[in-house]
Amino acid sequence: MNYIGSKLKLSPFIKETICAVAGKDLSQKVFCDLFAGTGIVGRVFKKEVRQVISNDCEYYSYVLNKNYIENHKRLDFRKYIDGLNGVKPIETGFIYKNYCLGSGSKRQYFSDDNGKKIDAVRQKIETWSSNKEISKNLYYFLLSSLLEAADKVANTASVYGAFLKKLKKSAQKKIFLEPAMFDLNANEHKVYNKDANSLIKTISGDILYLDPPYNERQYGANYHLLNTIAKYDDFIPKGKTGLRDYERSSYCVKKGVAKEFGDLIENAKFKYIFLSYNNEGLMSPKDIKAIMSKYGKYGVAKQRYQRFKADKTENRNHTAVSTQEYLHILQKNK
Ligand SMILES: C[S@@+](CC[C@H](N)C(=O)[O-])C[C@H]1O[C@@H](n2cnc3c(N)ncnc32)[C@H](O)[C@@H]1O
Repeated sequence: MNYIGSKLKLSPFIKETICAVAGKDLSQKVFCDLFAGTGIVGRVFKKEVRQVISNDCEYYSYVLNKNYIENHKRLDFRKYIDGLNGVKPIETGFIYKNYCLGSGSKRQYFSDDNGKKIDAVRQKIETWSSNKEISKNLYYFLLSSLLEAADKVANTASVYGAFLKKLKKSAQKKIFLEPAMFDLNANEHKVYNKDANSLIKTISGDILYLDPPYNERQYGANYHLLNTIAKYDDFIPKGKTGLRDYERSSYCVKKGVAKEFGDLIENAKFKYIFLSYNNEGLMSPKDIKAIMSKYGKYGVAKQRYQRFKADKTENRNHTAVSTQEYLHILQKNK
């Protein structure tokens, strides 16, 4: 999934740096990805550590991580994926009614056919789950497969803050569910859907990886449609874009972010803490160094990084094409 702040490309740098500091053999370590998003960093470490704890305040992210992180045993999914790809589209569902042009909604996040199909697939997954025909593990696996497939045919420039007037090429393609494959292993992992600053008070471990938002863009607004497909609840979509109510993250607000971050570090019961942040974030590298240094031995690793594409169109006064990505490191005092 093309996600703001995704660490897909940076994950080798993150893994290398973490191993250089915390040791190459992580097999007995508990690793926490507290702002997990797509779950890519947790997925990299799932193969290396004893346990991954994964968390994000957005529900779509919780669904993805319940699958990619928490699922670790083989699932018999083939007939269900095939079944979903074969379901008959319906015209009475929430997505078609509110987010497709043909229903008269004046919104075009999906082609009419794809909207109808998303509704049919989403409802089928829920029916299987409430009839106990599928396990919770399979439920999150199928929902993740749907989220990934829907995202591929979404008629947006990149995020769901707006839709395009004309159906773009990829949005004209028929939605097709591919199995959202996860890594098999022998260990149990844990996934939460909580505010990071509340959760941190209740967990502990060895390595804490932090990747909070670094600017004002709220994920709940930018990915509202993924939450709507994942939750499939009933509400009245607002305005031109059909937004749902969403929680605002304190990490996206200049005033207060430093205090929120400081509290997080103070309450963290982890030996090593790593923070990904870039040089254009709401907190400056200097602010971060000052906060982290209060709690132990501080260091930093840097890497140049190509900016996320959406920045170029949404925020034209940025001139840099690449940006500096920082991995701030803290070895916390006991
Ligand atoms: C930069 S993204 C993480 C990207 C992730 N590392 C990846 O590679 O996909 C930041 C994430 O923090 C989440 N988030 C924002 N505020 C939060 C909070 N207070 N508690 C938990 N998660 C939060 C957002 O939903 C978003 O998924």
